[in-house]
Amino acid sequence: MTTSPPEPVLLERLAARLGPRGFTADPVDIEPWTVDWRGRVRGQAAALLSPADAAETADVVAMCAAAGVAIVPQGGNTSMVAGAIPPADGSALILSTRRMRAIRSISAADGVAVAEAGVVLADLHAAAEAEGLRFPLSLAAKGSATIGGLISTNAGGTQVLRFGPMRALVLGIEAVLPDGSRFDGLTALRKDNRGYDLRQLLAGAEGTLGIITAASLRLLPAIGRRAVAWAGLPSPEAALALLRRLEAATGEAIESFELVPDDALQLVIRHIPGSRNPLAGAHPWHVLIEATAPAGAPDPADALGTALGAAIEAGLAGDAVIAANEKQADALWQLRENISEAERIDGVAAKHDVSVPVSAMPGFILSARKEVEARFPDVRVLAFGHLGDGNVHFNVRAPAGVAGPAWLADTAAAVSRMVHDLTVAAGGSISAEHGIGQTKLAEYARLASPARLAAQRAIKAALDPKGIMNPGKLVP
Ligand code: FAD
Ligand code: MLT
Ligand code: ZN
Repeated sequence: MTTSPPEPVLLERLAARLGPRGFTADPVDIEPWTVDWRGRVRGQAAALLSPADAAETADVVAMCAAAGVAIVPQGGNTSMVAGAIPPADGSALILSTRRMRAIRSISAADGVAVAEAGVVLADLHAAAEAEGLRFPLSLAAKGSATIGGLISTNAGGTQVLRFGPMRALVLGIEAVLPDGSRFDGLTALRKDNRGYDLRQLLAGAEGTLGIITAASLRLLPAIGRRAVAWAGLPSPEAALALLRRLEAATGEAIESFELVPDDALQLVIRHIPGSRNPLAGAHPWHVLIEATAPAGAPDPADALGTALGAAIEAGLAGDAVIAANEKQADALWQLRENISEAERIDGVAAKHDVSVPVSAMPGFILSARKEVEARFPDVRVLAFGHLGDGNVHFNVRAPAGVAGPAWLADTAAAVSRMVHDLTVAAGGSISAEHGIGQTKLAEYARLASPARLAAQRAIKAALDPKGIMNPGKLVP
């Protein structure tokens, strides 16, 4: 599958179809959208296309398909695997969903929102809340990540523990396929068993099988009451034992359970103004806990407080605090959600987004850290995140004082190979929620089974025979 660079005649036709608001070839406009969030991968694009709706999207895809020109779909460009960055050779065009930002409908009766691909997650949260509802998926990039990107990466975030990843919340999808045809799967039906599920195929496809233009999404009643707590613990094992104890004591109330090593907390305190340790003493590990209850139900803080007190009594936790109000609750969440930013400010890291069976996670964190720090002296492992999902961000930071770019060039790949080999040996996945994109493509090709790769290539060839959709991503 080889594509062709965009010719001037194609660019003229695209500009005519999209108009001045939907087309720019100005490098100054395009440049910010050609580098990934971490500033590590840079591409080129002759033009940035911003269709206003599905019809314009279909027309421009058909024109690019006819010309054999590649397209990189882009939402908020917050991908952690540079999935929305065009190739450096300028052979692809960026197709942004930034102008497809309508929330077409919200139905309390059906518990469904229909949102266009460019809708930013935080805006969907606000629109649902205004109707006494909620969209139960959140992540630190909620201010930029878009519905199309979240579906295409099957994003996880901090509420997977109770509601699953994006795939579990998508009821229907409207999309433009690589030939420009329009897939009208925007059903709000809870059950629809008509053959292969294109909705599930496009979810997690990372823009390689088509462009999502809208989706129908599950909504739940708004949270009635929430309790947010922070606990200090001796180990990841104690953290997992605490989670199971809290689940037993509070039933379905626990929505988030985020593991934070003290190194990560200290990094946030150092780099993010206004951050401070929620507990008096020092603890090697911490967890951020959120429990919720519907309106009218007992305050989840009561059961959570009792269970935390018992855990401290039993020596499982060293200390704990429950936020007294929403402001304190938000401040605790900020400590967790600012880890990525603090890590980025602090320097470079070989970042990993791995999952292993939940019960194996505590042992994995400690043994993998020991092996990696033995093989690569003075690196600093930061393992944080979604413990209850069996998913942590096992990030390996360069030794203090070592120039980041040089370390990334010389050592990071070897570090990642080791982390991924340890993950696979533990029965895990090298991508829990961020996807493969381009930064994990080589590792995916190295570690995935031939049958998996062959099936994936067959699906890609069937739906995108010209290979114009997001080349160089996900499909080795
Ligand atoms: P983009 O980055 O623009 O694109 C992502 C991928 O989707 C690309 O392959 C792109 O081609 C494709 N794509 C985008 N829009 C469309 C479309 N309409 N149709 C088809 N393909 C499309 N991720 C998690 O899962 N969990 C987390 O907890 C989490 N936390 C994060 C915290 C921070 C601070 C940051 C910066 C990122 C985090 N991420 C997390 C990663 C990122 O936010 C997610 O991958 C998110 O889903 C990307 O959405 P986006 O709109 O930015 O997509
Ligand atoms: C998170 O959970 O904070 C994200 O996935 C981001 C990261 O891995 O840095
Ligand atoms: Zn995460």
